[in-house]
Amino acid sequence: MTSQPIIEIKELEKTFQTKNGSVSALKNINLQIQQGDIFGIIGMSGAGKSTLVRCMNLLERPTSGQVFLEGQDIARLNNKQLQKVRRSMGMIFQQFNLLMQRTAESNICFPLEISGISKKAAKERAKELLELVGLSDRAKSYPSQLSGGQKQRIAIARALASNPKVLLCDEATSALDPTTTASILALLKDINQRLGITVVIITHEMSVIEQICNRVAIIDQSQIAEVGFVEDIFSRPQTLAAQKLVFPEGHQREVFSSHGDFSYYRIVFDGNSSFEPVVANMVLEFKTPVNIMFADTKNIDGKAFGQIVIQVPQSKTLQENMLRYLRSRELTVEEVTDYVG
Ligand SMILES: Nc1ncnc2c1ncn2[C@@H]1O[C@H](COP(=O)(O)OP(=O)(O)O)[C@@H](O)[C@H]1O
Ligand SMILES: [Mg+2]
Repeated sequence: MTSQPIIEIKELEKTFQTKNGSVSALKNINLQIQQGDIFGIIGMSGAGKSTLVRCMNLLERPTSGQVFLEGQDIARLNNKQLQKVRRSMGMIFQQFNLLMQRTAESNICFPLEISGISKKAAKERAKELLELVGLSDRAKSYPSQLSGGQKQRIAIARALASNPKVLLCDEATSALDPTTTASILALLKDINQRLGITVVIITHEMSVIEQICNRVAIIDQSQIAEVGFVEDIFSRPQTLAAQKLVFPEGHQREVFSSHGDFSYYRIVFDGNSSFEPVVANMVLEFKTPVNIMFADTKNIDGKAFGQIVIQVPQSKTLQENMLRYLRSRELTVEEVTDYVG
């Protein structure tokens, strides 16, 4: 039996009424996020990601369906209870949303002061949080004096001020360069592990999911296309929407047709194998070259994920021996005919 999810969404629909008619932003969304997850929600622009995350803390009211936080249907709460729920879900954004006229420290204190905590206690909490995000020396800086990564660290500190159970991140690294992105993601992972805060990451970038998430939902045209463990979705994306995100260059759609005596094999790395240079070793073993037609593998936690398509020599005996060799390495190998990904 699995424990109760921290967030559960049931049959959620959201339709916006505009002067040009109604826009269906979310359709039949069902989702379970477990306590301690770093849960990714990925999709193209306009897929409905921001609407979904805003429904999680009722910044947006669903048209129908339910949102549960620790088993409690949050649409049924009165205003005061809802305020409390919102405080238990911190949020950060692509544009940081800091108050420009306030220092870093005072940005962090702001939500605490609003919730009625004394100035002194708020300052003490801000000091701890500045330390946590590695910016103790920038307490008195204004946002305009900080880099993008530093601004996001302050926004994270502010989001953590009320001791939330969940941190919702809507494209939090989309305005940052890859190095800064990696450092912010590392901070989020640290917060998840050290403070036990469940993190929900909204992004359009698979690399973000790959870097820190354990589970992922793919949202495509207002619907959940796929949901599962990151390693499963990476090694075997089932839907076209997932394949497009996992292999954005579209090179998996190159067509290899099996003609003449040539054969093509797809080797799937599903995390069970390490990064043994399996193809190179096979070439040495059989003293026969193979052509690598396509390769897209990733290293996640020291395990190999992804796939390689190879063209093997014409000899049937050699083909069978190579197949046996690869399978003995506990790799999934399938023959490819008219390979379209
Ligand atoms: N307040 C709104 N009024 C009307 N349509 C909206 C509103 N917010 C979002 N939408 C529409 O809902 C769809 C999903 O938007 P959004 O959730 O922002 O997508 P994403 O964050 O994945 O880019 C889009 O078609 C968008 O135009
Ligand atoms: Mg968005």
